[in-house]
Amino acid sequence: ILTTGDYKVADLSLAAFGRKEIQLAEHEMPGLMAMRREFGETKPLRGARITGSLHMTIQTAVLIETLVALGAEVRWASCNIFSTQDHAAAAVVVGPEGTVEQPSGVPVFAWKGETLEEYWWCTEQILLWPGGEGPNMILDDGGDATLLVHKGAQFEAAGAVPSPDTADSEEYAIILKVLQRSLTEDAKRWTTVAGQIKGVTEETTTGVHRLYEMQAAGSLLFPAINVNDSVTKSKFDNKYGCRHSLIDGINRATDVLIGGKVAVIAGYGDVGKGCAESLRGQGARVIVTEVDPICALQAAMDGYQVATLEDVVSTADIFVTSTGCKDVITADHMAQMKHNAIVGNIGHFDNEIDMAGLAKLPGVHKVNIKPQVDEWVFPDGHSIIVLSEGRLLNLGNATGHPSFVMSNSFTNQTIAQIELFTKTDQYPIGVYVLPKHLDEKVARLHLDALGVKLTQLTKDQADYLGIPVEGPYKADHYRY
Ligand code: NAI
Repeated sequence: ILTTGDYKVADLSLAAFGRKEIQLAEHEMPGLMAMRREFGETKPLRGARITGSLHMTIQTAVLIETLVALGAEVRWASCNIFSTQDHAAAAVVVGPEGTVEQPSGVPVFAWKGETLEEYWWCTEQILLWPGGEGPNMILDDGGDATLLVHKGAQFEAAGAVPSPDTADSEEYAIILKVLQRSLTEDAKRWTTVAGQIKGVTEETTTGVHRLYEMQAAGSLLFPAINVNDSVTKSKFDNKYGCRHSLIDGINRATDVLIGGKVAVIAGYGDVGKGCAESLRGQGARVIVTEVDPICALQAAMDGYQVATLEDVVSTADIFVTSTGCKDVITADHMAQMKHNAIVGNIGHFDNEIDMAGLAKLPGVHKVNIKPQVDEWVFPDGHSIIVLSEGRLLNLGNATGHPSFVMSNSFTNQTIAQIELFTKTDQYPIGVYVLPKHLDEKVARLHLDALGVKLTQLTKDQADYLGIPVEGPYKADHYRY
């Protein structure tokens, strides 16, 4: 039974609804259920204390309960202020066996619509375990839990935290305040936590980017598995997941007819490819912006117009950023858009659209339409509609990717947690991807549910190709 107060969610009475949706999701997550069957007895995660920072949705609930079934203790927060599904959070806290009066699930610190202060408080809570023990594993999405541990350890070593007044953003000032307080409470807190962590498994492109940067700078404190670059993650979740959840977010937010409109997608990476396809599927005329000549050429070959934002900003109806870059849509761009143009971001962080710059434009004011939908009115009377305050709209305005695609991502996460926790010695500090045979295993676990019948290589054919009959079928440099 959870210690009273060792969780914080919106409303525990939503747990029964959450449980029903979790049960439906389990059926759509064959990879995770296969993990439970394969490892439920041997419990390879026994002794693992996993701090999880990843959108607290129904699909994540199935991941959390899989980690528990494999023996882990878990504490969880969301990795975005708007992405929590409150019924999922409640159901995880209550647990499959518990009641609202006597919850016996997993401590979750997450609710939809946190402030940034609350968000970083939640992130701190999942890294501080009762009894003073820290986590020994992190499961991260975007790298915020990893960042807090690294910044904390860095400032502890220096003996001081920089003044929040020196921070270059409101959010970084909040992080510095958390760490200032923490240093006065325990001067070795984050060094101790970092020392216990066997590794982190990272979910998304942007978080992986941070890890490789830390590795290059020599500041990475523990090994990491880059889950994003499993083929069965980035070529599925980022692409087919966004193909589903982008228009789900736009529809729930605005209910504007997409057919016939002109939509601009900034970035034609894995996420951008899925987004462009989904908008084209609705009958929009899609224009892509890119900085990379290869992706720009791909977009052109796929039949999209490729243009600069400046050339189309005053004529398009819908704008979506999917770059992982910053300042892609500026305040100046937004001032030039058509009346009621829709502006949203599906990349991990909220700096793709310059919301701070928009708020500072003289004479601009905001009218809230409903949660996560705002009309920004310019002095000349024209408006734009901004979704989720520029934060990832598929999770802010809708419920993120559906279960089946997340089963692929989260089976990779589960396998990566087992790898780092049970084979710690084989992973010196560095960033790794899972071997191809495990990537193929994740795909295999999802074929039956779709009625896919694989062709078997004969031994003769396998010898001809120079690969084993049972795979792996591709070299590591193959791009899919
Ligand atoms: P990616 O690296 O495959 O694609 C990003 C593309 O944006 C690249 O092709 C790059 O050349 C282009 N780009 C960069 N700066 C640009 C600029 N200023 N203008 C135009 N294009 C630019 O990355 P991926 O996997 O597509 O991820 C994109 C973002 O989405 C990341 O932040 C990632 O973490 C996030 N993500 C969000 C998901 C969601 O459910 N909302 C799911 C998966 C990833």
